[in-house]
Amino acid sequence: MIPNWFGKWNKENPTNVFGPAILVGVLGGAIFLAALIVTWGNPAQTASLQTGPRGTGMSVPEFNAMRLSPDPTIEAMYTEEPYIPDGSEPLAKDIYKNVQALGNVTEDNFNRVMNAMTQWVAPEQGCAYCHGDGDLETYGEDNLYTKVVSRRMIQMTQNINENWDGHVNANAEVGVTCYTCHRGQNVPSEIWFNVTPVTEATSGWASVQNRATRISQSTSLPSNALEVYLTEDVPVNVHDLESRVAGVPNDEEVASIQKTEMTYSLMNYFSNSLGVNCVFCHNSRAFYDPGQVTPQWATALLGRQMVIEMNQEYLIPLQDTYPADRLGPLHADAPKAACKTCHKGYQQPLQGTNVIADWPELATSETPVYE
Ligand code: HEC
Ligand code: HEC
Ligand code: HEC
Ligand code: HEC
Repeated sequence: MIPNWFGKWNKENPTNVFGPAILVGVLGGAIFLAALIVTWGNPAQTASLQTGPRGTGMSVPEFNAMRLSPDPTIEAMYTEEPYIPDGSEPLAKDIYKNVQALGNVTEDNFNRVMNAMTQWVAPEQGCAYCHGDGDLETYGEDNLYTKVVSRRMIQMTQNINENWDGHVNANAEVGVTCYTCHRGQNVPSEIWFNVTPVTEATSGWASVQNRATRISQSTSLPSNALEVYLTEDVPVNVHDLESRVAGVPNDEEVASIQKTEMTYSLMNYFSNSLGVNCVFCHNSRAFYDPGQVTPQWATALLGRQMVIEMNQEYLIPLQDTYPADRLGPLHADAPKAACKTCHKGYQQPLQGTNVIADWPELATSETPVYE
């Protein structure tokens, strides 16, 4: 095809084409990429949340792709506006046999709440999950554990919304319903049990760590952080900044190395529960100083107190009510809740959706107030 004279000429006049070809390739690639970014938008765009005073650089950047992608469980959430009572309707406690938590609710609204609880907790089983297969006459009986547990759950939800307003409505009205934890499932995700000791070969302190568990956030840190810090109000702290400190590690006030490791284990859990970094709550130059923290730290501090109360007053005492297959695999302890049971990896549960607006019945243990 190619004439002979060309092959000959080519041999006599060798030229290196690789240099210019690479240059053209690189430039062309860069122009192409720039054109893509200009026309399609930068996929790695971020937005920053300022967490400290101006000029200190205290901010948390996040990829827009993650920040703006909606939690799929928001769309699946069931809600229904209340029937505003005119004051003449009889109340549930006058109509039914055995209502202890929702007594001051009108009949329409009582049935509205029952229907919603079914959607939030037992959409597949329906009313029968808590009331059995009998007819409506038998609904006052307390013979299924699911109903007894649910009554306590109603009271717990009312208590959270009523008394922990500073946490669950910290930025705006958000609140908590059964759906916040259950998301359409009988047993909520991200519940936890006591799992220590995690090794049989050792005893004492060595037996609670060095095994990657869900509670240790897959690290070698201790697996008893939730058990100790989220069921009892003991101080969360780390060892002293001084290199040598007088004091015996077992003393209550002295934060030992063990205590320090447990604190970091808990902090990893906090971070992963909300899908945030340590600097969402702390100033990285002074983790130890509660005077240099972000506003979110205070919400988290309150959150810990709320979780301790939920576990102590509501969830742990239900131990004898559950059937054996719901109890912990190691110690037959009651299933417990913590940050991730509500947050599910998001900064705010259901990305800050106001879930309580339609449910004044679950926002107070007194007579609900309808707007
Ligand atoms: C997740 C559990 C659960 C589901 C599902 C549920 N209920 Fe209930 N139900 C309860 C609890 C708990 C009470 C008691 C409330 C109280 O003590 O204030 C109750 C009480 C009742 C009562 C009052 C009975 C009486 O005489 O005291 C009626 C009626 C009722 N429910 C109807 C329904 C209907 C209809 C459905 C289905 C649409 C339903 N419930 C689904 C937990 C449930
Ligand atoms: C803060 C989180 C949280 C909220 C809010 C919550 N629950 Fe629960 N619920 C739990 C935990 C934890 C358990 C224990 C899991 C288990 O049974 O293994 C549980 C268990 C239950 C069970 C027993 C299920 C079973 O099959 O063992 C029922 C029924 C239930 N909840 C109903 C409700 C209802 C109704 C509401 C709203 C009024 C509600 N829950 C609100 C955390 C929550
Ligand atoms: C959601 C907010 C939040 C996140 C995220 C968080 N912390 Fe904390 N941290 C707190 C709160 C609140 C306390 C105090 C708890 C208490 O006293 O009840 C604390 C306590 C601490 C302490 C103990 C300070 C002392 O007084 O001795 C250290 C150290 C610490 N955090 C480090 C970290 C590290 C490291 C990370 C990241 C892995 C982290 N934190 C993530 C909120 C957070
Ligand atoms: C009962 C459910 C529930 C539990 C359990 C819970 N939270 Fe929250 N938390 C919420 C709700 C709802 C909000 C949203 C409040 C708002 O934005 O107004 C929130 C907000 C926060 C915020 C503020 C976020 C922001 O954008 O300002 C922090 C920080 C936080 N929670 C930390 C924690 C930590 C740490 C724990 C565990 C110790 C915890 N939470 C346990 C329901 C819960």
